Amino acid sequence: MSRIVYVNGEYLPEEEAKVSIFDRGFLMADGVYEVTSVLGGKLIDFDGHAVRLERSLKELDMASPVSKEELLAIHRQLVSENDVEEGLVYLQITRGAPSDRDFAFPNPDETPSTIVLFTQNKPGLAKSPAAQKGMKVITIDDERWGRRDIKTVQLLYPSMGKMMAKAAGVDDAWMVQDGFITEGTSNNAYIVKGNTIITRALSNDILHGITRAAVLRFAAEAQMQVEERNFTVEEAKEADEAFITSASTFVMPVVEIDGATLGTGAPGSVAPRLREIYLEESMKAAV
Ligand code: PDD
Repeated sequence: MSRIVYVNGEYLPEEEAKVSIFDRGFLMADGVYEVTSVLGGKLIDFDGHAVRLERSLKELDMASPVSKEELLAIHRQLVSENDVEEGLVYLQITRGAPSDRDFAFPNPDETPSTIVLFTQNKPGLAKSPAAQKGMKVITIDDERWGRRDIKTVQLLYPSMGKMMAKAAGVDDAWMVQDGFITEGTSNNAYIVKGNTIITRALSNDILHGITRAAVLRFAAEAQMQVEERNFTVEEAKEADEAFITSASTFVMPVVEIDGATLGTGAPGSVAPRLREIYLEESMKAAV
């Protein structure tokens, strides 16, 4: 059965959904996106994603074609129409489709933004076997642009990073700038030393993860120590534990970095505990 997707005000079967070849998302990667997870048929951290979307749009001087209330209604309708119990809602807004290719931004009064949403059904997302086993990562240079705080659809380098990880026989890549880890290709990165969780502080160098914000709040509430600072690849390889966070993985343990095994090679105690707390608390607050 084909999915029902949302394009510029219409709900359509996916085969019928169309966007212009002049769309700036297609020609210039001139667009922003959000990924919101769905558990128990409800949206996780919706508010955080909606607020970050507004910020991304503002930073790029792009108009939002819908209000936050409309956005929530569209998300809910798609989840319901596609019977998503566990999965994701993908949202993309671009600067629209002017009549021709041009580097200059089109006049927003003449060229409305394009908005597209679709669901991805992922049964078993919360009970992922990878969370029991932990994942392996390699480190690669961070060759992305300088405004990684804006969630743009320029995902070529992260895609290349995933391919480098695949070629190395591991699950993902952590990116490195000046010797310090920035983040994973599509997630925020953390190490654990003793009782302290260490993760890079927020700046233009990384995406301000919505899951990150919630997890750090829960960690503080559980009396865990959190240090928001740069950490090196060497420090990471010698850490007791490591993990990533994102809307699609929640909290996922990392057990190997560049071939160096962390701890016993199995998930430690901090990441699985944070995963449990995150899933429990965010499901309570789901909308
Ligand atoms: N990626 N850093 C990067 C570079 C990301 O692409 C993501 C999310 C995160 C985590 O952010 P959040 O916790 O708000 O999901 C960090 C999404 C899941 C994706 O591209 O599919």
